Amino acid sequence: MPSRSQTEKKKLHDFCMKIPKVELHAHLNGSISTDTLQKLSARKSSSDEKASDLAKLAKWKKLTENREQRSLEDCFEIFPLVHKLVDDAEAVAIATRDVIQEFAADNVKYLELRSSPKENPSTGLTRRTYIETVLKEIKQSNYESNGILTRFLLSIDRKVPLPVMGEVVKLAEEFHTSSEGLLVGLDLSGDPFTTNVSDIIPLLSRAKNAGLKLALHLAETDDRSAESLMLLQVPPDRIGHGTFIHPAAGGTDEMEELVNRLKIPIECCLTSNLISRTVKSYSEHHFKYWLNKNHPVVLCTDDKGVFSTNLSEEYRIAAETYNLQNDDLWRISNESINYIFADDATKTSLRDEWQICR
Ligand code: IMP
Ligand code: ZN
Repeated sequence: MPSRSQTEKKKLHDFCMKIPKVELHAHLNGSISTDTLQKLSARKSSSDEKASDLAKLAKWKKLTENREQRSLEDCFEIFPLVHKLVDDAEAVAIATRDVIQEFAADNVKYLELRSSPKENPSTGLTRRTYIETVLKEIKQSNYESNGILTRFLLSIDRKVPLPVMGEVVKLAEEFHTSSEGLLVGLDLSGDPFTTNVSDIIPLLSRAKNAGLKLALHLAETDDRSAESLMLLQVPPDRIGHGTFIHPAAGGTDEMEELVNRLKIPIECCLTSNLISRTVKSYSEHHFKYWLNKNHPVVLCTDDKGVFSTNLSEEYRIAAETYNLQNDDLWRISNESINYIFADDATKTSLRDEWQICR
């Protein structure tokens, strides 16, 4: 593949920035930028523990900026540090506002944010107020029509006890009805080395029957075929990562056949998977495999703060790695609209917007 000149690289960078984009896999607390983390830490009274947390965060950022790889377990160590800074309603509001604005600045026109609702008795934060706070910020941002439309998915964190998962599903059902279309679905995420998913399946099926859309992290790591198949049989409306689905990647024929038959879109997060070492290189990423089969794929960031990336950068990497042309990038972005969890009227108006930007 011929390498691009500096001028061509600049042109590609500008094109990826300029095209309208859809972001469907963004964890709120993983998407917080360094600037916002600094703003959030300034709100907290200083203490040795906070200083040490910030030093750990700074070290992490440096590793990430150098694209140094870590294990998925290492990656999960960073989240508790971020969560410590986002432990009251005001911090949740600041984080939501800033993350939406940063995606808007990256020319993301439609965003689905996901987050697991947290409680903190010492600040008065409850799971309910966490959800209300995120929804209030989303509503305000949608109302201001600053070029981006946002929807919300509640995440079920795999490490919380089953009764808490039940509470999250109940809250999702309630806000699905009362949030005027803002809360559209559920995500299953968190450390894949925890929890027996057979306990969670009935909750997911219940949510699906209640009209909630499901985006499930599955086949994110090797040797999870049995649980991934169980999750695929629910079935989800979109798959998070899906790295180890097809046999050549360590999955099974049965999984691949199911995903093909149901045409379940796959949310692909190139940099996240490379840094957390679930793929060896960009060129070996499963994005290419599914794209070549004409299977629905969506380029996403996962945790733009934690992995120091943005969606334009993910498009640029895809173009460079898989030799995609501008028309291919535009098509991938445009087709992503098909897989959003919002209603048909929203899809139609986004498609019109894409045509104007062409
Ligand atoms: P939050 O739900 O807004 O707090 O976003 C951060 C959380 O997202 C983390 O604590 C994880 O549970 C989850 N998360 C972020 N990235 C990944 C991933 O790649 N796989 C599984 N879970 C993830
Ligand atoms: Zn994720």
